[in-house]
Amino acid sequence: MTVVKSTIPESARQVTGDALQSTLVDLLGLSLIGKQAHWNVVGPRFRSIHLQLDEVVTAARDFADTVAERASALGLPPDGRPETIASAFTLPGPKDGWVRDSEVVEVMVEALGAAIGRLRERIEATEKADPVTQDLLITVTAELEKQRWMFDAENWPKEG
Ligand SMILES: [Fe+2]
Repeated sequence: MTVVKSTIPESARQVTGDALQSTLVDLLGLSLIGKQAHWNVVGPRFRSIHLQLDEVVTAARDFADTVAERASALGLPPDGRPETIASAFTLPGPKDGWVRDSEVVEVMVEALGAAIGRLRERIEATEKADPVTQDLLITVTAELEKQRWMFDAENWPKEG
């Protein structure tokens, strides 16, 4: 059933819809693992990492909304239901319970790095299909790369 009429051709809809939906899943999942780590981080760097995690959460939530609304605007209904996130989310995240500050940093570098890698693939995929969506994905990637850098910088010198 078509409710909102799409402004992009049928041929571009699938790739654009997939790119937006999988980005939505990654961003909502990132906001959840960011909060999980925010609550469970322990160690001498608790305060700075606790606060930094909320920056990731805010960015992920804000962009999740923008990405979902981009999908809606194209006539592609977004799916942000918890069961959808639970089954589709594949990025690494913190283990259950308290997590040491250094381990949180490692996990966030990994999770953000994985999300960025996936976004860069979607940037390529949407280049022709919908440059407006591509532009949004580029903006999201720039923010996540900034966040990844800040955690990576926390991680120096590398242990082990
Ligand atoms: Fe908080």
